[in-house]
Amino acid sequence: TSLDQTLIERIAELKEEQNAVILAHNYQVPAVQEAADLVGDSLELARAAATIDTDVIVFCGVDFMAETAAILSPEKTVLLPAIDACCPMAEMVTAGEVRVLRERFPEAAVVAYVNTSAAVKAESDICCTSANAVAVVESLAAEQVIFLPDRNLGRYVARFTKKKILPWEGYCIVHDRMTADEVTAARRAHPGAEVLVHPECPPGVIDLADHVFSTSGMVRHACASPGREFVIGTEVGLLHQLEKRCPGKMFYPLSSRAVCVNMKKTGLPEVLAALEHLEPRVLVPEDIAARARVAIERMLNLP
Ligand code: 13P
Ligand code: SF4
Repeated sequence: TSLDQTLIERIAELKEEQNAVILAHNYQVPAVQEAADLVGDSLELARAAATIDTDVIVFCGVDFMAETAAILSPEKTVLLPAIDACCPMAEMVTAGEVRVLRERFPEAAVVAYVNTSAAVKAESDICCTSANAVAVVESLAAEQVIFLPDRNLGRYVARFTKKKILPWEGYCIVHDRMTADEVTAARRAHPGAEVLVHPECPPGVIDLADHVFSTSGMVRHACASPGREFVIGTEVGLLHQLEKRCPGKMFYPLSSRAVCVNMKKTGLPEVLAALEHLEPRVLVPEDIAARARVAIERMLNLP
């Protein structure tokens, strides 16, 4: 719309003035994806935050992603335009609970999915994302791995490793609701379509899928595949990137209920306001950030 166009122009001007970059997760609303300099999955956005050399990062996503950027780039101003955009899964485990697990399983390594608070990362040995979880677990010397907080990603990783995985019982409220019946119905409605799902889906959904990928992994696969039609088992915001990057192909959501309300809290007005006021800022206390940084950098330094 013309209002969007005005906002986008003003955002572009302020971005220059403030020496800022806009990073957006694949689940953001289309207008925000279009205003961003980079749209990606959690791993791509963390890597970008670690290497980009602007003064300001406007992080369009949820709090743990912006915290990760702030931890990796403490000298930058990191803005989270919708300050109340959180990830309920990240709140399902606390630093105190990790300490109790360490006492109970002293031999085990602790792998924290990036969907965790900075305080939980600080208690962990290494982080992972959906794009590298198996490689992260396999990189460890320990034979026992406490995996938190996502039980579905933990159990998915367990399919590919001989290590004993001890999954925490957290879950994503968006992906965990997807069902095997929805996959069966989607296959009936779209015979011939490939079914791509996120590893946060329950095991019964994963069993029936053709492939399991991170959000950007789905985009790469769909573009490269000879297939023309895809059923997408993740948050519906990804459909915008899929349609944009793979023109001419057809994408159907596995579940139309798969909406992450927290990812939808950021719109162009919030992005503009953040750039105007350099608020709301994400600040991670340096004592926690220093320990969390070790776990995140260990992940980023894997080959
Ligand atoms: P990706 O890292 O695959 O983009 O996933 C992030 C997320 O929040 C999934 O719900
Ligand atoms: Fe968190 Fe799930 Fe939303 Fe991803 S989709 S940010 S895991 S609630």
